[in-house]
Amino acid sequence: MKANLLMLVSALGLSTSALANDAKVPVNLPAPKDGQYVHEAPTIDDLMADESVNPELRKVILKGYDMFMNTQQFRGEYVFNDMNCKTCHMGEGRMNWSGPVWPAATTLPDFRGKNQHVNSLEERIAGCFAYSMNGTPPAYGSDDMLAMVAYHQWLAKSAPVYERNIAGRGFSHLGKKIPEDVSYEKGQAVFETNCAICHGSDGAGQKKDGEVVFPPLWGDGAYNWGAGMTRIFTAASFIKNNMPLSKPGSLTDDEAWNVAWYINSQERPQDPRYTGDAKATREQFLNFHKHTRYGTEVNGQVLGQHDNTGDKPFLKPDSLKPRTFE
Ligand code: HEC
Ligand code: HEC
Repeated sequence: MKANLLMLVSALGLSTSALANDAKVPVNLPAPKDGQYVHEAPTIDDLMADESVNPELRKVILKGYDMFMNTQQFRGEYVFNDMNCKTCHMGEGRMNWSGPVWPAATTLPDFRGKNQHVNSLEERIAGCFAYSMNGTPPAYGSDDMLAMVAYHQWLAKSAPVYERNIAGRGFSHLGKKIPEDVSYEKGQAVFETNCAICHGSDGAGQKKDGEVVFPPLWGDGAYNWGAGMTRIFTAASFIKNNMPLSKPGSLTDDEAWNVAWYINSQERPQDPRYTGDAKATREQFLNFHKHTRYGTEVNGQVLGQHDNTGDKPFLKPDSLKPRTFE
């Protein structure tokens, strides 16, 4: 993957020195708290070496892995933006503090505040398709969904079930509280100095021969207004731990907050839960949107007050329908 990226970078005429430095700047991640357990998710090499795995199961897990790494193969079917699952879930979905995906396999079914009902693992995966991928998931129970589930379950191998005290879950190591002096202008300066070279000064990312090399941060190809990454604290932590790609940990906490604030002040495809009024939608889902700038005024415009769903020819996928248990 690294070699691949390097080739594409030089093909784009960019300096490869930005990526050549494999020695990552260490990120000071918090130590596990008392009572938390650390899970090291197994790799694909482990899967290949594990003779106890039925060959048919191995094929299904590998299919799920391939879907996770190259979700763009389903462009126009399940995915309508430029993302792959691994674009945000670094280290193939295994890396702690970079949104490891396996906790969903050990803690679900569970109640989820975002949609106010008990969710299955399939439904959690569907959520990232609907918001982060600005798309619609493979049908529940389908071969493609089974493959996705199998990959998540494989990563969870040997982790305790229904034990929620997990070290390194999610992205939020900087905590949830946005600094009071967070600044759009400072964020813009951080962006132009450290990010625009790859993500483009218009935030639209870069493609080479139709293939996404650097993913967009805003605009039609980006995650939509309902995605977890629109929360300032999530983006700030993601950025602090992982960006700039070649030098993770090189930004100060303030720089990470400011650039997250800046990026998430830019337009992107509509929240699939949109009611026709961004301010009202913000109020309705305030539990989530209190962490985003959606439905607030930035530079004289209310963010998200538009009908643009990006490349997606619909607003809300059927998979987002609520579930009730009487
Ligand atoms: C734009 C970034 C982005 C992309 C792309 C993305 N996700 Fe996510 N994903 C997130 C964020 C943010 C969270 C919430 C993490 C948290 O709780 O803080 C999340 C959470 C999850 C979880 C729950 C993890 C847990 O701790 O329970 C799963 C499972 C998941 N994603 C799977 C996927 C799959 C499968 C894909 C591809 C179809 C995908 N994601 C694509 C950003 C993304
Ligand atoms: C050397 C190129 C490079 C630089 C510089 C860089 N990024 Fe990235 N960024 C990437 C790549 C590549 C990915 C996808 C990771 C993957 O697929 O492994 C990514 C992913 C992301 C994502 C999540 C996916 C998305 O598109 O929303 C965010 C947010 C992000 N970068 C923000 C930033 C910020 C902010 C900066 C500057 C502080 C920055 N990046 C600097 C290459 C870069």
